[in-house]
Amino acid sequence: MKGSIAVCPGSFDPVTVGHLDIIRRAAGMFSELIVVVMVNHKKKYSFTPDERVALIKAVTGDLPNVKVEYYDGLLADFARQKGAGVIIKGLRAMSDFEYEFQMALANKKLNPDVETVFLTTAAENMYLSSSMVKQIASMGGDIKDFVPEQIKKDITERLYGKDE
Ligand code: PNS
Repeated sequence: MKGSIAVCPGSFDPVTVGHLDIIRRAAGMFSELIVVVMVNHKKKYSFTPDERVALIKAVTGDLPNVKVEYYDGLLADFARQKGAGVIIKGLRAMSDFEYEFQMALANKKLNPDVETVFLTTAAENMYLSSSMVKQIASMGGDIKDFVPEQIKKDITERLYGKDE
């Protein structure tokens, strides 16, 4: 799949070590990977779009073929605008599957030129989610195992006010 562009969409509120693992592996598969911070209108976000983009940029700076953008619109349209042929999604468990399957089918209808490719989450990240990170950090818990080290302080200070 060298020579091709892929997009990796998500809410990333905030980015976790699970997301970063998927981003790193996908970056190794494509010439260009655009990580796109998007809006799921069913969710209420704790971090602004700019904050979510900045946190991802802070942990992907060593990946020269990765770009990070924000887009408030349809993923199918974003992929078309960027000339991307692949949407990368991480799958944690069967519980993710039904929703992701529906989105993949809808995106294929909206943009027949795009394929959704699922990467399985690393076993150690199976249980991990941004909501879990937010809950632990906002109650003063240590999120060092859940988010990349460079952004742990920023996330904790933002959600709890201080980082011990
Ligand atoms: O990290 P999330 O919240 O599971 O990501 C979901 C997201 C943001 C990728 C999804 O809601 C999305 O693609 N939103 C963009 C709007 C869109 O294209 N919706 C139709 C998909 S069927």
